[in-house]
Amino acid sequence: MNKTGLIGANVHRSYSPAIHSFLFKKYNIVGQYKLFSVTQSQLKYKITQLVESGYKGFNVTIPFKETVMPLLDEVDESAAKIGAVNTVLIKDSKLIGYNTDYNGFTSSLIAELPGFTFRGLKCLVFGAGGASRAILYAMNLGGVKQIYLCNRTFAKAELLAECFSNVHPVRWEERESVLSDCQLIVNTTPITERFINLSDNNAVVTDIVTFPTDLLNQAGENSVSGLGMLLWQAEFAFQLWFSQHNSWCVT
Ligand code: ATR
Repeated sequence: MNKTGLIGANVHRSYSPAIHSFLFKKYNIVGQYKLFSVTQSQLKYKITQLVESGYKGFNVTIPFKETVMPLLDEVDESAAKIGAVNTVLIKDSKLIGYNTDYNGFTSSLIAELPGFTFRGLKCLVFGAGGASRAILYAMNLGGVKQIYLCNRTFAKAELLAECFSNVHPVRWEERESVLSDCQLIVNTTPITERFINLSDNNAVVTDIVTFPTDLLNQAGENSVSGLGMLLWQAEFAFQLWFSQHNSWCVT
């Protein structure tokens, strides 16, 4: 039995067991994916338990994507730059951390929008938390021209802009001023109600949450749901654990 799972603060409503059951079937592997809700003080002990029980690896979610890093033996270069780990591979009892959110984000756009590329795009990103960091990393890797980073707390946008290339911080009150200049808009905040008026903007709009938001409703046929990112990050985590490579995977 190949054991995998998810560690987070409150994971009982996660879609991940359903997604990974599908992947086990798809790749004809016998396995299980279990959920573990823990507190920060229980995190280290839970990880030790998983290693001792022969787990292949596990995913990490809110709020442990950053605090798990010092507990690992190695962190891959992309995850180190992003500053967050969402997937841990257990290899010879060693814990190796990866981030599959950033390539999950890229792959969901490429898979849903034929011919999509970040190259040359001007983008607007709302939010300056952990998810935003993965998205800024993916955009720069893909060759974006410019990123406007708009956050309620301007100082956080300024700080993040220093860590990545091509990022220009924008004040929350000025969020509509750069809209018409952008071809891709990404919301990483938890706001589901209207906070911006897209008017007749033709930009591709995506939200990292998996349910419909006002922003996605406004964008209509130009919207890409965050569900794709969730599915693709799971596919990439599964590939890390089980070395599955698939010719139709986009990276
Ligand atoms: P994650 O790791 O998922 O990105 P996070 O680190 O808590 O989550 O970041 C959430 C982001 O959403 C933050 O940038 C936060 O803005 P602040 O830096 O000002 O806290 C933003 N956010 C959360 N609630 C918001 C709201 N009601 N209006 C605007 N921005 C909000």
